Amino acid sequence: MERKLQQAQGNWVVGERFWGREDDIRILTRKIDEGAHISLIAQRRMGKTSLMKELQRRLSDRYICLFIDLQKDSDPADVIARFSLSLKPYDSLWKKVKSVFANVWGAVSGNLEEVSFGEIGIKLRAGLNQENWMEKGDALFSILAKSDRPVLLMIDEVPLMVNRMLKGDDYVITRERIAEVDRFMSWLRANSIEHQGKIVIMLSGSIGFEPVLRQAKLSSTINNYQPYDLRPWDDETAIGCLSALGQQYGVEFQNRAEEAMVRKLGYCIPHHVQLFFSHLLDRCERRGEMRFSADDVDDLYEHEMLGIRGHAELAHYQERLELFFSKEQLPLVLAILTETAIAGKLEMPVLRLLQREYARKEVDSDEETMEILRVLEHDGYLRKSGEEYRYESNLLKEWWKKAHSGFYVPLKEREK
Ligand SMILES: Nc1ncnc2c1ncn2[C@@H]1O[C@H](COP(=O)(O)OP(=O)(O)O)[C@@H](O)[C@H]1O
Ligand SMILES: [Mg+2]
Repeated sequence: MERKLQQAQGNWVVGERFWGREDDIRILTRKIDEGAHISLIAQRRMGKTSLMKELQRRLSDRYICLFIDLQKDSDPADVIARFSLSLKPYDSLWKKVKSVFANVWGAVSGNLEEVSFGEIGIKLRAGLNQENWMEKGDALFSILAKSDRPVLLMIDEVPLMVNRMLKGDDYVITRERIAEVDRFMSWLRANSIEHQGKIVIMLSGSIGFEPVLRQAKLSSTINNYQPYDLRPWDDETAIGCLSALGQQYGVEFQNRAEEAMVRKLGYCIPHHVQLFFSHLLDRCERRGEMRFSADDVDDLYEHEMLGIRGHAELAHYQERLELFFSKEQLPLVLAILTETAIAGKLEMPVLRLLQREYARKEVDSDEETMEILRVLEHDGYLRKSGEEYRYESNLLKEWWKKAHSGFYVPLKEREK
């Protein structure tokens, strides 16, 4: 019987809801077994978190698999609190963690085991500060290095935290902030080297890590991690996913509608495949007709994928840009993306014109523009081919065009 697949719920998927990625899992497992530290690179919604959660599930009989998410953190002390808490499920390790934090436990009244998970986190965090996080963090690594099984430590959304540390609320990269990021990244690096062979570290995140660190001239703090590029699904995997979803929910594809859907997407970011199916299922159920033909694909794409819910997706992309670029840079960034979306490509002469239009006196605009393009490329918005840039994903291009073209006159039309 053909495999069935349930739709994704929430952010990431694992186990029954996890599709494909067999090659990535095999390659990453080999790298982990070889003791390599890894930085998992891909644009948002490519399935990085899901892949790490699935690795955790599949490797937990051989490894102590820890997963921590730094999405909300802005301070190394937050990371150490989260790191400690991730050891709670392992009784023998947790005992040792408690002794590392003996000073904090003194303040907890009553029986420690009766305190809830959330409260423990708060207590742990309260006992950590600028002065002691590093020493406590080192102690945690030493505990792990002595455990009976090797350790896989997966740290998600590292660039988000580093970016936040670096820029604060005012987007000013100060010397103090750089020093603080350097201290944190160098600490992680030192531990990864000291415990090589016993602890594997896997970093991941959705805004470009390398560009963030480059801004602070700290790229060397990640040169001990092997970059691993997580790609979109190939056509076969995406078609398989749609068929399996169809099997699960009783959708009957006609005239190879799955293939037409995948062709329409062109660039199969797993989340976009899932989104497409979810629109399809809603439509089938609304019509009370579970047969879905290839002839319906264009219409579904136009009205649902590019419709109002698509805009909600796009908002996330835009928020990420606002996190990374300063308020001064943002207008040029948005113009580059809008121009490319409308014209279909961005050629060097057009780029020069935009650059002149948005130039700011105080900066070297050539250097700055090239850096912007490098970041947009790194984060999966644009792809350079020859001397021009194009959108990596058609869907993103269409979304962007729909949302922004209303207030934008492309350069070619202005000259008329
Ligand atoms: N292996 C997979 N199988 C099925 N769906 C996936 C898979 N990977 C990603 N997805 C889809 O993409 C969405 C985002 O996945 P997530 O792991 O959160 O991506 P990222 O961490 O790269 O932003 C999931 O909710 C799911 O719909
Ligand atoms: Mg994620």
